[in-house]
Amino acid sequence: EIPVIESVAELRQHLQRLRNQNRTIGFVPTMGALHDGHLQLIKVARKSCDVVVVSIFVNPLQFGPNEDLNRYPRTFASDVEQSAAAGASIVFAPTVPEMYPDGFETSVNLHRMGAILEGASRPGHFQGVATVVMKLFWMVLPDRAFFGQKDAQQVGVIQRMSRDMNIPIELIIVPTVREADGLALSSRNRYLSPTERQQAGILYQALSHAAERFQTGVTSADVLLYEIREIIGSVTLSRLDYAEIVDSQTFEPLERVDRPATIVLAVFFGSTRLIDNWLLTPS
Ligand code: PAJ
Repeated sequence: EIPVIESVAELRQHLQRLRNQNRTIGFVPTMGALHDGHLQLIKVARKSCDVVVVSIFVNPLQFGPNEDLNRYPRTFASDVEQSAAAGASIVFAPTVPEMYPDGFETSVNLHRMGAILEGASRPGHFQGVATVVMKLFWMVLPDRAFFGQKDAQQVGVIQRMSRDMNIPIELIIVPTVREADGLALSSRNRYLSPTERQQAGILYQALSHAAERFQTGVTSADVLLYEIREIIGSVTLSRLDYAEIVDSQTFEPLERVDRPATIVLAVFFGSTRLIDNWLLTPS
């Protein structure tokens, strides 16, 4: 049984006691509906930190008006249990009014990186993410915070925000946890029909194909992206939203993979939108 804390004041009090005992604090922000990807972040955090705080907060600010805020899966009791089993010490689960009291009007916005790719497909999304992560950082004041590579642009946004705002928190990026066929674990996978689920492995196939081609010396983004689009298009139910190869830090598109790059991919299956990515590192 681990404490579940709803109020910011109580969280601060609890964590201050631990900080006074010189415990290092790790922080894993989540929106709940926990799966093995989230649990991996908690396990990694527990290895390097004495105390692991897991936040569970479905952040309305990062959902667009036509997105799935109201049907976002909520499995709170089992989330708390699984967090504890994975090594969490505290679950922080603020209510919406606790996070955004009446009159709330401040936001954190990344003017360029927040507006491209995922940000172009989901206007306002990264402003919501950056704002809530900044708030959570101030509430938890962790030594280290853990994010999944699954959400590559989110990682880029948080890293940029941390540098821009001089945030003294070490960011640890955890590799993507995948199903047996390579599909990245995601709380949205449950919306796929059996046929869509079968075909969804194509994202991993396209990415790992491109990674192999890169290993054999293909560095042209056009060539790699052409082949990725062909592979994604080879299954009947896929609809490509975007496929790009970008600089891993700035997310600017690259013509040639001559520095650390990320292939970023967003694909619709019906109304379910899946994202995935792959890091390419020139030797
Ligand atoms: P959520 O989608 O719940 O994800 C919480 C964390 O788990 C993120 O860092 C995400 O990248 C990571 N994650 C998800 N699937 C993963 C997988 N298959 N392998 C490894 N890590 C995975 O991302 C958010 O919530 C929100 O935007 C948040 C940062 C909490 C701000 O509201």
